[in-house]
Amino acid sequence: MCGIVGCAGPEPVLPILLEGLTRLEYRGYDSAGIALQTGSAVWRRRRPGKLAELVAVVDDAPEATTGIGHTRWATHGGPSESNAHPHTDCTGRVAVVHNGIIENYLALAAGLGPSHERTSQTDTEVLAHLVEDELAGGSSLADAVRACLARVEGSFAIAAVNAGEPGLIVAARRGSPLIAGRTETSGLVASDIPAILGQTREVYVLDDDQVVEVRPGSLRVTTLAGEEVTPVRRRVDWDLEAAEKGGYEDFMLKEIHEQPQAVAETLRERLLPDGRLHLDATTLTEDQLRAVDKVFVVGCGTSYHAGLVAKYAIEHFARLPVEIDVASEFRYRDPVLDPNTLVVGVSQSGESLDTMEACRFAKSPTNKARLLVICNVVDSSMAREADAVLYTRAGPEVCVASTKTHLAQIAGLELLALYLAQLRGTLYPLEIHALVDTLRGLPTVIERALAHEDEYMEAGRRFVDVRDFFFLGRGVGFPVALEGALKLKEISYARAEAYPGGEMKHGPIALIEPGTVVVAVATRGRLHSKMLSNIQEMRARGATIVAVANEGDDETAAQADVVLPVPATHELFSPAVDVVALQLFAYAIAKARGCDVDQPRNLAKTVTVE
Ligand code: G6P
Repeated sequence: MCGIVGCAGPEPVLPILLEGLTRLEYRGYDSAGIALQTGSAVWRRRRPGKLAELVAVVDDAPEATTGIGHTRWATHGGPSESNAHPHTDCTGRVAVVHNGIIENYLALAAGLGPSHERTSQTDTEVLAHLVEDELAGGSSLADAVRACLARVEGSFAIAAVNAGEPGLIVAARRGSPLIAGRTETSGLVASDIPAILGQTREVYVLDDDQVVEVRPGSLRVTTLAGEEVTPVRRRVDWDLEAAEKGGYEDFMLKEIHEQPQAVAETLRERLLPDGRLHLDATTLTEDQLRAVDKVFVVGCGTSYHAGLVAKYAIEHFARLPVEIDVASEFRYRDPVLDPNTLVVGVSQSGESLDTMEACRFAKSPTNKARLLVICNVVDSSMAREADAVLYTRAGPEVCVASTKTHLAQIAGLELLALYLAQLRGTLYPLEIHALVDTLRGLPTVIERALAHEDEYMEAGRRFVDVRDFFFLGRGVGFPVALEGALKLKEISYARAEAYPGGEMKHGPIALIEPGTVVVAVATRGRLHSKMLSNIQEMRARGATIVAVANEGDDETAAQADVVLPVPATHELFSPAVDVVALQLFAYAIAKARGCDVDQPRNLAKTVTVE
C-alpha cells in the first residue's frame, strides 16, 4: 500500500527521505519517487520497481532541506514512471503525494480549465492541478489544500510542497493513515511510525479531515475549515531495532519465532483477579456486554481467519451466536444489528479500509452496535473508532504476510470468549480458571512446535515443484487449513485451496489424482476420526498426504506420507499451535522457489483502498 514520508528541517533531506521510504517498503509497492524543494523550483525523480531503482538515479539531486517521498501501490493506472508519485502541477512548482483513492477525480478533472495538461492516469494528479488553481488565485499552500480537500470524495492521506513556500510541507488525511512528528529543528510527516523513527520519537496522530503544516521544528494542525486543533502527542517507546531482522534471514522467519512472546505479551495481565477482562480502552459497561445477544466478527485475510477461530470459541464457551464476515462484504449485505450486537473488528494494522468501514457501519446511528477492536497498532484509526480496544502486543510486524499478529489475535479472541462466558455464566469459575491456565501455557506449547522447525522445513522442501495443494481441516482445524493455504499462496505463489474435510466429496474431490498434495490438519479433537476418514478418501484416489498431527499420534502418522508433528493443547486453542507448522511449511517452499517472502508480489501490508 502506498507510503508517504516528508521532512522539513535544517539538514540535507534526501537521505532522510530515502531511509523513510526503506522503512515503508514492507507495506508493498511497485514504484517510488521523491520531490525536493529547491528555493524556486521542485526537483522530482520517480522510478517504477524497487527503491533501488530510484536510489540509482538521484546522484544529481540538488541540495535541499525540505522534501516528500512516496512508495506507490498501483490502483488507478499501472506501475509506470508517469503514474509514480510525486505528481506535479503544470508549472512544476507544486508536488503532491497521495495514499488512497479520490473517488470523484474524473468529475474534478472535468472541472479543470482547458489550460491544464494531465500527464498520468492517476486519480492523484488532479489534486496538484486543483492546488495550482488555488495558488494562482492568491491562496497559500495550506489554504489551497484545505479548499481542494473540501471538494474531494474518497479516502486519502496526502502531502504537498510548493516551490514558493520554502521549508513547508502541508499534509492531510481522511480514512488513510498519516502521522506527524517533530524535533527541535525539523518537522516530519509519514504514513506510519517506522518511517520517521530514525528522526524522532515525538509523534502526533492526526484525525480525519485534519491538515498539518509541517515546518522545521514546528507543526500546526487545523480542520478543513481552518480552525486550529491541538493534536494528541505520543512518545514511541519501541525502537528501530525491534523492526529490524534480528539476525534472521528475513522478517517472516523472525516474526514466526517471535510468536510465543507475542502471545505471552497479549495475555499478560489481561484477566483481573475478579475475572474481568482488562481492555486497553473501553466505554462499554458490563451490563452492556451482558446484554449482547449476538456477535459479528469482521476482518480481512489472516485477520478474518483469526475471526473464524473466535466463532468456535465464543459459541462454545459463551453460548452466543457468532457470525463471521469478510469485512469487505459486511456492510453491503444488510446485516441485522442493534445495540445488543457486539461487532468485533480484527485487524493487525487497524487501518485496513474494508475493516475500518465495516466497523464504522456497525457503529453508525442507524445500526448502533457496540464495537470492540482487536488490533496491533496503538492509536490506529480503528482503535480510535471503537467502544473498546484490546491491543495484541505483538510488536511491529514487517513481513507483508502476517504470522505473529495472527497468533496474538487468536489469543486475544480466546480471552474475549472466556470473558463473555464469565459474564454470561455459561462456564463455572473453576472451569474458566482452568482454561485461562491452559491459555497461559500456550506460549510454551508454541515454543515446542517451533522446536520442530527443521522437520516442517524439510517437509516443505519436498514439495517445491508442486503446483496445486489442497488444505483440509474440520471444526477449528478448518480456519487453520484456510490460513495454511493463504500463507502458501501469498509467499510461494502456489495454488492452494482450503476446504472443510467433509466437503471434498461434494465436488472438489474430482480434482484429486495420483500425486495431488493434500495437507490435512488432523490434530486430536472431536472430529479427529472423521478427518481420518476424509484422509482415507484422498489416499484412495492417489493423493500424497501431509498431516499436521499431534506428537506421538501413530494412528494418524500411519495414514500420512509426511507428518508435521505439533504438541497438543485444548482443541479450541489448537489453531495457535497447528498453524505454526503450516507457516514454516509454506516458508520453506517459498524460499526454495527463490521468492521474496517479506514482500510478495502484488501484496500490500496494509490495504487502505476499498
Ligand atoms: C492485507 C495483507 C494481509 C492481511 C490483510 C488484513 O491484505 O496482505 O496479510 O491479513 O491485509 O490486514 P489487517 O491489518 O487488517 O489485519
